[in-house]
Amino acid sequence: MTQTLTFLGLESSCDDTAAAVVRQRDGGPAEILSSIVYGQTDLHSSFGGVVPEIAARAHAEKLDTCVRDALTQAHLSLDDLDAVAVTAGPGLIGGVMSGVMCAKGIAAARNLPLVGVNHLAGHALTPRLTDGIDYPYLMLLVSGGHCQFLIARGPELFTRLGGTIDDAPGEAFDKTARLLGLPQPGGPSVQAEAEMGDPDRFRFPRPLLDRPDCNLSFSGLKTALMRMRDQIIETQGGLTRRDRADLCAGFQAAIVETLVKKTQRALDLYLAEAPGRPTLAVAGGVAANTEIRKGLMQLCATSGTDFLAPPLALCTDNAAMIAYAGLERFRAGARDGMDLIARPRWPLDKTSPALIGSGKKGAKA
Ligand code: KG4
Ligand code: ZN
Repeated sequence: MTQTLTFLGLESSCDDTAAAVVRQRDGGPAEILSSIVYGQTDLHSSFGGVVPEIAARAHAEKLDTCVRDALTQAHLSLDDLDAVAVTAGPGLIGGVMSGVMCAKGIAAARNLPLVGVNHLAGHALTPRLTDGIDYPYLMLLVSGGHCQFLIARGPELFTRLGGTIDDAPGEAFDKTARLLGLPQPGGPSVQAEAEMGDPDRFRFPRPLLDRPDCNLSFSGLKTALMRMRDQIIETQGGLTRRDRADLCAGFQAAIVETLVKKTQRALDLYLAEAPGRPTLAVAGGVAANTEIRKGLMQLCATSGTDFLAPPLALCTDNAAMIAYAGLERFRAGARDGMDLIARPRWPLDKTSPALIGSGKKGAKA
């Protein structure tokens, strides 16, 4: 028997307040009926990072408007929903709590089932939402808050092969931009500078490449960049346009090489247990970087791997991925009650050891 399900999703774990409606007929493709994202960049820009208290307050103020707009865009009302899915972690706890309280309110008022979703699972299941790919597949999640390799085996079954032990790559791009006086978010501005620069003039370290595992480290890159920048300023009294472009190009080349080589290792590990033609999917804001994409696509082309990058609006934080992940959990029998808690840390793979580090965008699971 096929069952059509319509889910409202809520996301508020970092600095985007988002609501979306996703519909799926059992066995059929999922359809995004609406997806609303209200960013908070302006609220945090003068602080050089996300301020958790400001983020939580803004989520609490914006969530109901966001839900209303998502329903309006979908031409639906609360009566048309089958359940509410909400990010219950990991993330900045005040923001996660705002979303969970909002979802509980809607679920209680309309007597709807409630499904708590792991934010990382939302990202990791996005290739199924957009392209309907089958399990298992290899996932590289690269954002401002996260960086990890996952084998996705089921809606709640993930194996983490490795991840960053300190900064996430997006964080490294943002810090680099700050050190060079470029606008935030740093990724796009550093990329634009790098396009005009010489990647070979400055040699940045390739952290942890000497280790055989899939773990990564990016915090040393900004220290290296700071030293190089200060040395130039000391010898010539300031940075020229060319210096800045060359620094960005060298920095970006280090990130690309590190990510691509570690992805090769993750693919080797994946293939050792799942022979056949693998799929590598990417998600997260950093997946927008053209050089990173190019490097990963080349790797996939030479290793007989299918490469999948969802549209950018679904790579970055959004609520459609939360609605969809909730839908998959629900079909697998999961239900949460009014005792659903907000969790600052929530590793997807409970069996792999915790990674060190907790960056500006909350704890890394
Ligand atoms: O996934 P996302 O929207 O938010 C979270 O981190 O949760 O990712 C945002 C991050 C920022 O750090 C931003 O600088 C980075 O993605 N980013 C990029 C590019 N576009 C966005 N990094 C490198 N190259 C880009 N083109
Ligand atoms: Zn995210």
